[in-house]
Amino acid sequence: MKNLISQLLASAVNTLQKQGVLSADISPNIQVETARDKAHGDFASNLAMMLAKPAGMKPRDLAEQLIAALPEHEAVASVSIAGPGFINFFQDRVWLAIQLESALADEHLGVARAQPAQRVVVDYSSPNLAKEMHVGHLRSTIIGDAVARILEYLGHEVIRQNHVGDWGTQFGMLLAFLEEQSVNTEAELGDLENFYRQAKKRFDESEDFAHRARERVVQLQAGDPACLELWHRFNSISLGHCQVVYDRLGVSLTEQDVRGESAYNDQLADVVQRLIDKDLLTESDGARCVFLDEFNNSEGKPLPVIVQKAGGGYLYATTDLAAMRYRHVQLQADRVLYFVDQRQALHFQQVFAVARKAGFVPPEMQLEHMGFGTMNGPDGRPFKTRDGGTVKLIDLLDEAEQRAYRLVEQKNPELGADELTQIGHAVGIGAVKYADLSKHRSSDYSFNFEQMLSFEGNTAPYLMYAYTRVASIFRKLGSSMEQLDTLGPLVLEQEAEVELAAHLAQFGNTLNYVAREGTPHVLCHYLYELAGRFSGFYEQCPVLAADQPAQRDSRLRLAALTGRTLRQGLTLLGIKTLERM
Ligand code: ARG
Repeated sequence: MKNLISQLLASAVNTLQKQGVLSADISPNIQVETARDKAHGDFASNLAMMLAKPAGMKPRDLAEQLIAALPEHEAVASVSIAGPGFINFFQDRVWLAIQLESALADEHLGVARAQPAQRVVVDYSSPNLAKEMHVGHLRSTIIGDAVARILEYLGHEVIRQNHVGDWGTQFGMLLAFLEEQSVNTEAELGDLENFYRQAKKRFDESEDFAHRARERVVQLQAGDPACLELWHRFNSISLGHCQVVYDRLGVSLTEQDVRGESAYNDQLADVVQRLIDKDLLTESDGARCVFLDEFNNSEGKPLPVIVQKAGGGYLYATTDLAAMRYRHVQLQADRVLYFVDQRQALHFQQVFAVARKAGFVPPEMQLEHMGFGTMNGPDGRPFKTRDGGTVKLIDLLDEAEQRAYRLVEQKNPELGADELTQIGHAVGIGAVKYADLSKHRSSDYSFNFEQMLSFEGNTAPYLMYAYTRVASIFRKLGSSMEQLDTLGPLVLEQEAEVELAAHLAQFGNTLNYVAREGTPHVLCHYLYELAGRFSGFYEQCPVLAADQPAQRDSRLRLAALTGRTLRQGLTLLGIKTLERM
């Protein structure tokens, strides 16, 4: 509706420009807000106040002219001027009801498929395989997965890319250690974290070992079969660990989505050659670098993007350049999204710029770093175990599920252990994911079990519970949110009904916004607001106990669409809903 009103206002501005009332040079940023006080309108715009001064007019006079030039639309019941020159819009309730009816009749809830559909590469999770996944990988995994699902729902073709770190000097150390241990790899590698720590210790303590580790790196790079074999074994065990976490989290990544750094090895020399051909390379202390005018350090000195070290080794940036070219040439992406820590912002700005300069990607291909802040512990400090180690993801998820189990048990002592385990899993995992998704991704956030597991506020348990309330209405009726054929039409009468209906009609817009900006917190807020408006409606408008059968039918329809929107919204966030809890 906001979009529609903006379009109508833009058309009015255009008309006034043609009439010479407004200057032809302006292209105002039209803002439409949901009105707080619904007595004077459902939506309001300050456009007339914004344009009055440059036009040399009184805001109210300009508002009048804009209204006169506004095209008619069936969605708008009336328009009026308020206060110093706000333009207020009442939406047409009959029209709104028709929109909701058609959403109800559609499995896709009336959300339009994107036109044109894009092919979108989503680069997310991407842990380093040398170590076990830790809390630092949680945000990329969860946020990236939600955005991938939303893009798909909107009709885009999504290609997931798990750009795992499966190459580099640490692997020499790990392989050398693996040889020393030689005995039982499966058992040794059950605890990767420990394995890495021990290998590092050996590396730091023994000159001999360090020498062998370096040798292994060279052999690995030269494609020595025995080394490669060991490396494969190591990686497949490590990837297995990741997959356990993905499955536990209900994240849609599979082993098919893995395309690690090593996949680009054979293209790195060519990437460098192309940079030479394009005259973009400079040697600096034996290293090969690209200097771009737009990147300087704090002293104004040019910052290099190093693509090859003095010893000949390639870097993280080189691999990303090769990956971008692959994503253009092989995957034919229209858009590539990188869900990676905000601290890599400069890296991405630089490699994007180099890739464009070198022609690895065409100008129309969108490259977007969807950065995010750090996840801190409950005290706001970096997340660490009591003894200062990194927190393993799997331990964190265990604790979340255990806590959720106990919480649900307290609320419903009559539930059996099986059901408690099932609910504990859905609530525990849902809470961890939602806590992350509901914050703006670019800010840091504190991981806090008590907060995320609360049944009040903007949390997963609250929303999951709100869904079960709707489900229970239909259960009492012996019906479902999908069986509405025998019910009479939707008619919006009470204020609380209109409030709920207007919000329901914004679902598609909300999803499009999230797909564009890569900000699932906007969907979280939408759902939270939806649950709140439903509560208001439910208090003020009896559903099953409505006075008239027609009223009951209409309200059941509103409840059904609320339930289905909550369920779809949570599913898109990667959160399971329960029918009862
Ligand atoms: N493995 C990297 C890390 O853990 C993240 C990779 C992100 N993706 C990329 N194309 N650079 O920091």
